[in-house]
Amino acid sequence: MDMVSGGISAAALTAAMGQAAQDIDAALDQLLPVAEGDEARLFEAMRYSTIGGGKRLRGFLVLEGAKQFGVSRTSALRVACAIEMVHAYSLIHDDLPAMDNDDLRRGKPTNHKAFDEATAILAGDALQTQAFLVLAEEATHPDPAVRIELVRMLARASGARGMCGGQMLDMMAEQAKAPLDEPAIGRLQLLKTGKLIEFSAEAGAVLGKASAPQRQSLTHYGRELGAAFQIADDLLDATSSTEEMGKATAKDAGAGKATLVGLLGIERARLQAERLVAQACEHLEAFDDKADYLRALAGFVIERRN
Ligand code: IPE
Ligand code: IPE
Ligand code: MG
Ligand code: MG
Ligand code: MG
Repeated sequence: MDMVSGGISAAALTAAMGQAAQDIDAALDQLLPVAEGDEARLFEAMRYSTIGGGKRLRGFLVLEGAKQFGVSRTSALRVACAIEMVHAYSLIHDDLPAMDNDDLRRGKPTNHKAFDEATAILAGDALQTQAFLVLAEEATHPDPAVRIELVRMLARASGARGMCGGQMLDMMAEQAKAPLDEPAIGRLQLLKTGKLIEFSAEAGAVLGKASAPQRQSLTHYGRELGAAFQIADDLLDATSSTEEMGKATAKDAGAGKATLVGLLGIERARLQAERLVAQACEHLEAFDDKADYLRALAGFVIERRN
């Protein structure tokens, strides 16, 4: 059988991710109100882009990180939902005409195509605030200090020094006169993609009140994994199909996106992603076999086809 890493087969990882996706969907269904009242359209748009789609990589990371420290599944699932809400919001806005102008996401029309631009903007906004509401509620963790720490971390990871800052750099690079060099692309990707993935890897350690070294190991694992993940996304834009990805491909070069694939070419970008995956796994050395799914996930990030 095809072993990904740490004795976990590709099939076992797929099954575990599938189970996580199912559990996250069920929890999201509870946490995102069903449409009611005159503002029903907003709730529908929020649910449309959040429930029933995506790989749930970030949510899976929260669940697997939490497993290292015996955190309750209920707590971990709520944090997994919060990060998936912020991720969904980032995708809704990323697809808007003012940003990447995409019509297809997760194999169906993008939010602004299924609804309209104003609704898509509002759905993104409301998903973001819903995520912080979920983190702040007592059901997420009995200790308010833990909840505040998660709120602080997610705010930092999502905002101007995180995803939004990276998205700004991504948009500015399209207009830049000279192409970005490797360190500049690395920084762009660390912010736009890396920070939310780093949050996802670290959150379980916060929920489980892990030691500082354990927490830091997961943070570093998440950082390398996030960097590899965005390179893989850029490689797939260049090498995969719309059918496989459920979103438009072969767009980045024409749009003038700053990517390592554009700067180094496919082969060297792939080598860089492989190096990052190996480094990510090195950060897990102090963890026992409970971390095997995290090790396997690192391989999945660059082997994936969508
Ligand atoms: C897409 O993320 C946006 C990037 C940061 C590259 P994913 O590839 O995780 O999207 P879903 O959640 O599986 O749809
Ligand atoms: C998006 O990166 C990153 C965020 C949404 C923060 P991309 O623009 O490359 O993602 P895709 O390819 O549209 O999923
Ligand atoms: Mg983009
Ligand atoms: Mg995009
Ligand atoms: Mg992309």
